[in-house]
Amino acid sequence: QSGAITLDPGYKNTGSCESAITFLDGEEGILRYRGYSIEELAEKASFLEVAYLLIFGELPNELQLQKFNTDILDQSIVNEDMKTVLKGFPESAHPMGVLSSLTSALTAFNPKSVNVDSEEDMYKAIVKILAKFPVLAAWTLRKKKNQKLFNKDTNLGYVESLLKMMFQDDKKKTYKLNRTVVNALDKLLILHADHEQNCSTSTVRIVGSSHAGLFASISAGVSALWGPLHGGANQAVIEMLEEIKADGGDTSKFIEKAKDKDDPFRLMGFGHRVYKNFDPRAKIIKKAADEVLDQLGVDDPILEIAKGLEKAALEDQYFIDRKLYPNVDFYSGIIYRAMGIPTEMFTVMFAVGRLPGWIAQWREMRLRKEPIGRPRQVYIGETHRKFKEIEARS
Ligand code: SDX
Repeated sequence: QSGAITLDPGYKNTGSCESAITFLDGEEGILRYRGYSIEELAEKASFLEVAYLLIFGELPNELQLQKFNTDILDQSIVNEDMKTVLKGFPESAHPMGVLSSLTSALTAFNPKSVNVDSEEDMYKAIVKILAKFPVLAAWTLRKKKNQKLFNKDTNLGYVESLLKMMFQDDKKKTYKLNRTVVNALDKLLILHADHEQNCSTSTVRIVGSSHAGLFASISAGVSALWGPLHGGANQAVIEMLEEIKADGGDTSKFIEKAKDKDDPFRLMGFGHRVYKNFDPRAKIIKKAADEVLDQLGVDDPILEIAKGLEKAALEDQYFIDRKLYPNVDFYSGIIYRAMGIPTEMFTVMFAVGRLPGWIAQWREMRLRKEPIGRPRQVYIGETHRKFKEIEARS
């Protein structure tokens, strides 16, 4: 078509980028954060250590981790007026929509977090959002259950205080920490922490590239993650498994439905743009699901349905030909469910895990002084036309 443009031969205008944060090999099923394998980090590190690693590039020593934790705790009070913003939502509102709105609203109460050009100012904005985001996440659950809103218990760790804000008793203000739940959630958050240039991270980078501020960029990332083709898949997987269970547990019908081109249904939790072998996170989460349900004494029939569905799909030529394997979302919801986390909160948990990755990618883009993101296009529309008066139009 005349008027069509050739794409920029380089990568600058195509939305791709250079990054030193996460390495992903889709064929080999390799995932590394700053060079460390996800398998080692999930086993040996805490979520806060991994957050520090992703954002600053090195595993923290004792002193660095202690200061990071203290700086975050110092910022964990959320402005009381944010509760007024929250109160404006109907109970029926999806927690991801509420979380995205509250995250954007944080800017109004922290205006100095917008124009951050120095590393010091960036650090202040970073510890603010790391501190307040889990509080807002917990509040989205409390809102759904019409329960009191609590701020962080600063005597607890990052994951422990999140669980307590989510589940503590309204009246007695108590919450009995379960070490199995804490350890499992810490591992899940690590496994979700970053994944190079996925949809929501690319959103954070492109919004951040206009210098809109960190909180606005994270709010945009939450909205992108919400979609069922992306982070929203973990909720859609459980809804699909429950539908299979209600239908008698016959997975073959759903496999056939997923192959039917006339049917928009896809096997949720299966397939990936980059992993064309297996998603290393799914392997770790599948093993953790067995362990956590066993330790919690939870016998959830949909775990067996999930395993049966995985087996059937991996033996089906359609899935084999398209290299469709379980992804990070396929088993994670089964663990969240065993922890007592409601289905509508699964993607919020994904967002809490992904927050350090979004921050790290935003910080890298800003420190590299990258230009505003401006992907180009191949124009396929009309060639030049003369204006037509309304009388002459058909
Ligand atoms: C995440 O990018 C990331 O890294 C994301 C993520 C992260 O950590 O940030 O890993 C997290 O989002 C994981 C993905 C969660 N989404 C789902 O589980 C939703 C179901 N999956 C699909 O919608 C799909 O697999 C995607 C969106 C994940 C990937 O889409 P692609 O790469 O664009 O695949 P495609 O649409 O090009 O499909 C290729 C073929 C098509 O068939 P043909 O047209 O070639 O005949 O495979 C088919 C598709 O119809 N296909 C599926 C399928 N996924 C792809 N068929 C049935 N069920 C599926 N799940």
